Amino acid sequence: MGVGGCALVTGANKGIGYAVARALGGLGMCVYLGARDERRGLAAARSLGDDGLDVRFLRLDVTDESGVRLAAKRLDDEVGRLDVLVNNAGVGGGMSPPSATATDQVRQVYETNVFGVVTVTNAMLPLLRRSTAGRIVNVSSVIGSLTHAAAKDDPTGVFPMGVFPTLLEYATSKAALNALTVTYANELRGSGILVNAVSPGFVATDINGNRGTLTPAQGARLVVRMATLGADGPTGVFVGENGTPDGQPLCW
Ligand SMILES: NC(=O)c1ccc[n+]([C@@H]2O[C@H](COP(=O)([O-])OP(=O)(O)OC[C@H]3O[C@@H](n4cnc5c(N)ncnc54)[C@H](OP(=O)(O)O)[C@@H]3O)[C@@H](O)[C@H]2O)c1
Repeated sequence: MGVGGCALVTGANKGIGYAVARALGGLGMCVYLGARDERRGLAAARSLGDDGLDVRFLRLDVTDESGVRLAAKRLDDEVGRLDVLVNNAGVGGGMSPPSATATDQVRQVYETNVFGVVTVTNAMLPLLRRSTAGRIVNVSSVIGSLTHAAAKDDPTGVFPMGVFPTLLEYATSKAALNALTVTYANELRGSGILVNAVSPGFVATDINGNRGTLTPAQGARLVVRMATLGADGPTGVFVGENGTPDGQPLCW
């Protein structure tokens, strides 16, 4: 793969998703730029189109099941298949300790980061099954690794040894996303569809008040790599950005 084909990136009007859309478009793919807000989505798609890329705005709020079904129908009508799905849309949570976190706060984050991924993936799978090289990339976080949380050890070096953030809603939503990744990868093993999770690194975007140390383009790099794996590529793995072409394997 690498040239041609059709991709959908959720939450692509800004941040890492926008950079992924730009990079996939630059590889010659037609890219559906998913965004929940029409104005923001159209503006983002237009700016990539102005750079000569085949990028089309697709209205997509991952928490809106009927809207997601409509989006899948549009893809079916216009292209008839999907080669790459990047489940990128995500929200952060609060900073309260778990004991002071309300159930509703957790539910709200899960709606996007977990349930939204199930909704979008299931709606798009019939289209992905028509591809000769379907790829699903779930944009996760090392913060979702139970192994690294238990050891309070961040292999990506963002947090010093012994300081692992206890972000209940966000961290456990990404742990659930990791579990989804393995579960879908197992179901789809042998189908030609590869399903993997990527930790993009600490990227300067709105989700962290732009405190990240990597640019969105750098954060997109490994996502794009996993979205364009060859047929012999892995499935059911979790990799993290570390500046190398294949990233570093991360523990679940
Ligand atoms: N930045 C980092 O350091 C970092 C590290 C690890 C993982 N990640 C993950 O990377 C992904 C992208 O985040 P980012 O850093 O690029 O943050 P961002 O700039 O805040 O972008 C988040 C994107 O998700 C969209 N979104 C939120 N809820 C949505 C919904 N219900 N339906 C559709 N789109 C929705 C946002 O749309 P609106 O503009 O409409 O809000 C926005 O386009 C997230 O999954 C995040 O958890 C980021």
